[in-house]
Amino acid sequence: MIHGLLRSDSVMGEKNKFRGIRRNLTNYGDPGFAAYLRRSFAQSMGYSKDMLDRPIVGIATSPSGFNNCHRSMPELVDAVKRGVLKAGGLPVDFPTISLGEVFLSPTSMMFRNLMSVDVEEMIRAQPIDACVLIGGCDKTVPAQLMGAASADVPSIQLVTGPMLAMPYRGERLGACTDCRRFWARYRACEVGDEAIDQIEANLATTAGSCAVMGTASTMACIAEALGMGLAGSAAIPAVHADRLRLAEACGERAMAMALSGAPLPSQIITPASVRNALRVLLAVSGSTNAVVHLTAIAGRRRIEVPLEMLNRLSDETPVLVNLKPTGAHYMQDLFAAGGLHAVLYELRELLELDCMTVTGETLGEHLAQAPAYVDRSVVRPLSDPYQPHGGLVALFGSLAPRGAILKRAAADPDLFEREGRAVVFESLEDLSTRIDSETLDVTANDFLLLQNAGPASPTGMPEAGYLPIPRKLAQAGVKDMVRISDARMSGTAFGTVILHVCPDAASGGNLALVRNGDRIALSVSERRLDLLVPESELNKRRSAWTPPQVPARGYARLYREHVMQATEGCDFDFLRGQ
Ligand code: FES
Repeated sequence: MIHGLLRSDSVMGEKNKFRGIRRNLTNYGDPGFAAYLRRSFAQSMGYSKDMLDRPIVGIATSPSGFNNCHRSMPELVDAVKRGVLKAGGLPVDFPTISLGEVFLSPTSMMFRNLMSVDVEEMIRAQPIDACVLIGGCDKTVPAQLMGAASADVPSIQLVTGPMLAMPYRGERLGACTDCRRFWARYRACEVGDEAIDQIEANLATTAGSCAVMGTASTMACIAEALGMGLAGSAAIPAVHADRLRLAEACGERAMAMALSGAPLPSQIITPASVRNALRVLLAVSGSTNAVVHLTAIAGRRRIEVPLEMLNRLSDETPVLVNLKPTGAHYMQDLFAAGGLHAVLYELRELLELDCMTVTGETLGEHLAQAPAYVDRSVVRPLSDPYQPHGGLVALFGSLAPRGAILKRAAADPDLFEREGRAVVFESLEDLSTRIDSETLDVTANDFLLLQNAGPASPTGMPEAGYLPIPRKLAQAGVKDMVRISDARMSGTAFGTVILHVCPDAASGGNLALVRNGDRIALSVSERRLDLLVPESELNKRRSAWTPPQVPARGYARLYREHVMQATEGCDFDFLRGQ
């Protein structure tokens, strides 16, 4: 039956019929010649004619010597291939660029859109009937979902899975909340040089993405909640045999999607599934970065994610999961506690259950059965949550007319309602030069403010919003301060850190106009962030402001000319859904 379809030219042009090796023919002006040449060259790779008659499941891979989080990709690819072959398809893996979080300068965020273009165009251009996307590190999963959403070919997201936290001198260490915790203690001289060297060698010891509910784990949960990942897939540790079984199941399922041509990403990523994903993000107290990424993914399908909606959902959605950086546990504990399925099951009365998933079943069908076991020290019931409201909140006001984000679950509530004096750093260079200066005029009650680290800045919105506590205050025992910027923050970080101020300073937003000594008012209860400077004075400063230079050439220029603000997901304007 399958072979009959493939050999019949009459069905080649029909929508949603698989076309295997004849799909997306190279344009020589002679389709017959193009098919003949392609089959000939494919046979040079040793494929039998029988294999070339099969539907093709593409496997988008992103291994790299510069990406530790993707170390396990070869065995995942093998397992996906096993699943595709078992179901009668031809698996073909292909590379895309890879974004290893800590190996890219100025920041991986600058290249997320580049990877999304790579994924989209390779899915669209090659003979792929369905695709398995394998990613894991922070920006790779959003890039793959953005690309797949635009290409709109049936696709499944398979994440590499989280690292294991490892025992170390009576506690466990896992990237990367513990990285920050010990670095803060080192800066405060509570930990010495030898100890920090030993800790450095024990923070990340297995394959996989960061071990806490950072950006990578949050995006894994979002992929599953959206319906783009198989049920139960988010929390399986990278090195657990279940992840290989999951990979095999992804291959098998992708083959079924190749045959049916459905469901398409456009049938899965809908306003309702995006709302579900936002609720999950809030319930797991996930990364602030995920708001930007989900907005970008949704934008590819012309779906808006206004920050006002985030606030409404945050008021209605409690935090159910006790994971670092806001709680005590690691991703492997969530897996053992029942995985994301346990969280989704608790949330079910808040979710829109008729959303389609990659399995061809609805979310409601997946949640018909209660999880066999739930560890309530990790996943709490809806009736008895860890925190009554969601982990994230958006703030608006004269300092952030289009919004800013605070991860309130990871912040100090004693700092939520206050007015403070601005201590301004004009750039990342200025910050690193002066933050530890003995002569810096700063007290624990001041607001540290960083400018020119937003999406339109030459730095490309790095994870620099977690401004270090000035050394002299850290040594005096200060653990948290109000920090404000247009930058992002690692999902593994914590503190009273206000991020993604929009419009950003490099676009001429009011953030660019703040001067040392200005007063700023913060009210988390009112969702307000205001610069207490008269409009007449701001107008004077605005007329003296000059934008940063646009790079002369290359990707940096393309980025600067087309990147949008954080509230638009920092996507390129020409990549959004039309
Ligand atoms: Fe890759 Fe943290 S460095 S997920």
